Amino acid sequence: MSDKMIAPDNIKDIIEINTKDSTYNVALLKDSWQCDVSAYSKVLVITNEKIAPLYLELFQTRLITQEVYAHILRDGEEFKTWDSIKQILDSAFKFKLDRKSLMIAVGGGVVSDLVGFASGIYQRGIDFISFPTTLLAQVDASVGGKCGINNEFGKNLIGLFHQPVGVFVWMGFLASLPEREKKAGIAEIIKIAACFDKKFFNDLENMDLKDKDNLTFCIFRAIKIKAKVVMEDEREKGVRAALNYGHTFGHVIELLGNYKEFLHGEAVAIGIRMANSLSLELGKMSRKVKDSIDSLLDKNDLKFSYKVANKEVFYQNFFMDKKVEFGKLRVILLRDIGEFEICSGINKTSFLKALEEWE
Ligand SMILES: NC(=O)c1ccc[n+]([C@@H]2O[C@H](COP(=O)([O-])OP(=O)(O)OC[C@H]3O[C@@H](n4cnc5c(N)ncnc54)[C@H](O)[C@@H]3O)[C@@H](O)[C@H]2O)c1
Ligand SMILES: [Zn+2]
Repeated sequence: MSDKMIAPDNIKDIIEINTKDSTYNVALLKDSWQCDVSAYSKVLVITNEKIAPLYLELFQTRLITQEVYAHILRDGEEFKTWDSIKQILDSAFKFKLDRKSLMIAVGGGVVSDLVGFASGIYQRGIDFISFPTTLLAQVDASVGGKCGINNEFGKNLIGLFHQPVGVFVWMGFLASLPEREKKAGIAEIIKIAACFDKKFFNDLENMDLKDKDNLTFCIFRAIKIKAKVVMEDEREKGVRAALNYGHTFGHVIELLGNYKEFLHGEAVAIGIRMANSLSLELGKMSRKVKDSIDSLLDKNDLKFSYKVANKEVFYQNFFMDKKVEFGKLRVILLRDIGEFEICSGINKTSFLKALEEWE
């Protein structure tokens, strides 16, 4: 249905994603976009308290619907919980959404994860579309159908694979996005380029992402790469795991900072540097490659002073990650730009040695 929702003359670029059970489009929208969801019986737009005053009114004029309702969530990662899922489902029941109804996520990764999950279980699953409003959600969270919530045991530990029926990327949202959030999203673009595409990485080295056209181009290029990865490996049995490059370390940084010290993308930027130190330590990556990734992160203001207070504690926290299987850590390491390895069974001494740089 997604190709019919946005008229072709409102689209700048489009990618079709085909997975085992679904086909949908990720479309880069022109400023004049309108979205026709009148084929659905009812529509529930879900956003948060920060985004609603900025954009909810816009959706009233840009959506073509039969019946539309809104649900406003609290803002913040701490609300990516069961309680928010329950509230969304309660609204859906209250407004009598049926199996031919649609949920629309308007927000960053927190909103799109919640809406993906809630729509995936409401009456055993209804359609949802996503309008990602952060750079991170545009390039990463909104594509690929992973959706999850947090609990007291950790992040994203409960969730589903539920693909949207459309993802609509409108650069207009970024006008209100704080610079810090933008930079955090750029870390995920660098991650994608470093893991999968040397040419893209080289282009990023020569590009100023403060330029809006450059940024638009890079966002869509990163989405194209992620789309390809998701199509190859929807359930993360192989290549998709590489998207976790920098994340094994990044998740510990987030956890030890109580999710307050660093934004996700910032923690990933530090995590990428740590993963590269481990690659260097293991003789997989050359100093030259490590330096080139460091320089690209530096160029995009993704340089943070971070101290590992206790290497042992840091190491133990790796085992809270979903990537642990049979008690073994799985880490994505690069040999070169565009060449990654999914490594398990790396000894503890190497991890501790790699962390020395941050002591
Ligand atoms: N499902 C996936 O594949 C996947 C991938 C990556 C990340 N994630 C998840 O995404 C979440 C992080 O996403 P995020 O970085 O977008 O964080 P977020 O959703 O918390 O958004 C960051 C902040 O920006 C605000 N905001 C959003 N859009 C705005 C706009 N246009 N203007 C002004 N403010 C705006 C939000 O209200 C919030 O305060 C994490 O929960 C992470 O686990 C999921
Ligand atoms: Zn990430």
